[in-house]
Amino acid sequence: MQGKRILLGITGGIAAYKIAFLIRLLKKSGAEVKCILTPASSDFISPLVVSTLSGNPVGIEFWNKEDGSWNNHVEYGLWADILVIAPLTANTMSKMATGSCDNLLLATYLSMKSKTIVAPAMDLDMYAHPTTSRNLAQLESDGVGIIPAEDGELASGLEGTGRMAEPETIFAKIEDYFESKKDPMIKGKKVIITAGPTYENIDPVRFIGNHSSGKMGFAIAERFLADGAEVVLISGPTKLQLEDANLTLVRVRTAEEMLTEVQKEWESCDFGVFSAAVADYRPADVAKEKIKKTEDEMSIRLIKNPDILLWAGENKKKQVLIGFALETNDLELNAQKKLHKKNLNFIVMNTLMDPGAGFGHDTNKISILDDRNNFRSFELKSKIEVAKDIIDYLKNYSS
Ligand code: CTP
Repeated sequence: MQGKRILLGITGGIAAYKIAFLIRLLKKSGAEVKCILTPASSDFISPLVVSTLSGNPVGIEFWNKEDGSWNNHVEYGLWADILVIAPLTANTMSKMATGSCDNLLLATYLSMKSKTIVAPAMDLDMYAHPTTSRNLAQLESDGVGIIPAEDGELASGLEGTGRMAEPETIFAKIEDYFESKKDPMIKGKKVIITAGPTYENIDPVRFIGNHSSGKMGFAIAERFLADGAEVVLISGPTKLQLEDANLTLVRVRTAEEMLTEVQKEWESCDFGVFSAAVADYRPADVAKEKIKKTEDEMSIRLIKNPDILLWAGENKKKQVLIGFALETNDLELNAQKKLHKKNLNFIVMNTLMDPGAGFGHDTNKISILDDRNNFRSFELKSKIEVAKDIIDYLKNYSS
């Protein structure tokens, strides 16, 4: 569960107190947890307990009264790898079934990009009522995963079916979901991804670099990990973090260091995705001391850096190799030349001319050209969605 983003929705039932144990299990397994409480649920579990255990602020209302800030349901929906609503009361269940949207949790449910699973909890007669069966069937047909209520003693003192599944059961269902999402074509395969800029030293305090944030490469790594790949992410300087049991994150600074790390892993890998913005040149001599401003003019002699992608293409055996092309003009023509010169299977093109695409943005607009002469353009999307498009293209290409 390392690095998985779990959004927990808590509604107003007595079983809400048990969610503290579920949060502990998730946190211990390495997941990141955020919680949204319906207004009624804070009578059953304190927001302070939830925020302390999850390590994140809790969302309850659409806006925070103290500072007037907005809890953005769309952002929650984009952030989460899964929404788990537990306990799910009859009231929230019926609202979900009809599309009602009168609180933050319901708005987030309607904004979810990924799976929602629910663990209903109520008294036995409520659970057995035809309305509940009808609403559950509706949710199931809407694609919601249902963790059925269990038999046992209920808060009313009665015995029967209606108890929320135990936190351990809910945890196992979340694990099962992530396991089921792993793609057999990608699961267990080894992928090398290069990401970010490289910094080429001029002296001990100065370097030549570029504006690459590394976001695209990290998003691609995240998607491969979700599909069960073993990922070696070789990244130039960036502030981005990523953790996963199947991830080896190697941080480098220069193009030469990046090449060395790629060479160590290349032979044993199945896919290579080279998204790094590698500096084409580096200073011929790196000054040992800080350069003083003694002259009115100065020049730095630059020499060519190794082309890492070209090296991988020349040493390609079983691997599928994907390169990137960031161009400002003659996009397709330049990309085609790179595809052939570097012996790529396909090339992902983007241009700084498209608003929202390229360096630093959270969005990107790409087209893909492959060595079978297929060309496909995509819409402007979040980098996570672009990463999914690239991996889907790879699956299609390799099948
Ligand atoms: N690349 C690389 N090593 C380099 C330069 C580029 O691995 N020294 C990779 C990039 O990660 C990207 C692809 O090559 O996948 C295209 O990079 P780009 O700099 O656009 O192309 P170049 O071949 O360097 O051509 P030019 O600078 O003339 O556009």
